[in-house]
Amino acid sequence: MEYQYLLVDPETQPHVAVVRLNRPKELNALNRRVMEELVHAMQVLERDGTTRCIVLTGNERAFAAGADIKEMAGMGTVDMLTIDQFARWDALKRIKIPIIAAVSGFALGGGCELSMLCDMIVASETAQFGQPEIKIGVIPGAGGTQRLTRAIGKARAMELVLTGKFITAQEAFAAGLVTRIAPPELFLQEALKLADEVAQMSPLAVRLAKEAVLQAFEQPLEAGLHFERKNFYMLFASEDQKEGMNAFVEKRPPEWQGR
Ligand code: CAA
Repeated sequence: MEYQYLLVDPETQPHVAVVRLNRPKELNALNRRVMEELVHAMQVLERDGTTRCIVLTGNERAFAAGADIKEMAGMGTVDMLTIDQFARWDALKRIKIPIIAAVSGFALGGGCELSMLCDMIVASETAQFGQPEIKIGVIPGAGGTQRLTRAIGKARAMELVLTGKFITAQEAFAAGLVTRIAPPELFLQEALKLADEVAQMSPLAVRLAKEAVLQAFEQPLEAGLHFERKNFYMLFASEDQKEGMNAFVEKRPPEWQGR
């Protein structure tokens, strides 16, 4: 697939790919084509057998300013249902490799939701997060009411969703939405550093760890604990578990096989 709105570097550093949203004039507004390309790029990276972590970013001014309002403005309910506007988001949710959002500037509406669909957010000090859909007569539709509430709690999520106000990177960090903040010239480097830390771990364990953490949002505690235990036990069938533990005992760095 030829990308119109994405720049993909499959190996920015060993085992780490960078996917850049590249629709700058529209502040990376997420139209259907962008989402289609994004799913394609992520699935290709997932299948290449090399990528262990993906950094998803935008440009300095915007990570993404939301779903494309111009594309949606004339649509009706039946259009939404038949094109299944958010089906591509479900496909992104199924990517098993960790994805780090490196956010500078606006992460609004669908842009904020996309950053929250990622596994971690590294923000530039200039980042602004918000769910301003209420200002255009709708509500978040790609997970904002759920993921934001889980990330920062009901009171603060309610305020953002009901007023459409933005929060700064510092506020997002204090609220637990963002994992690291860096100056504007360093935020991507910071995200790559984090990606490198993840990429140095056993890819198999990373995959099962991501899966288990995400279950915390899906399951009651007992079922989540059961899921975690199953993944833990499963890793004892892997070469990486033997290698990791033997390397510890032998006081040497592990060499992961991803099997
Ligand atoms: N959709 C389509 N185009 C968008 C857009 C969006 N979400 N956000 C910005 N743009 C376009 C603008 O229309 C403008 O294009 P033109 O030059 O052709 O007019 C261009 O990007 C630059 O934007 P502005 O001139 O508005 O830039 P600004 O600096 O004055 O303001 C902003 C920046 C505050 C982000 C403002 O653009 C804005 O409020 N954007 C919309 C944010 C929004 O409401 N997002 C939610 C969308 S709905 C959604 O996401 C639903 C969901 O849950 C999935």
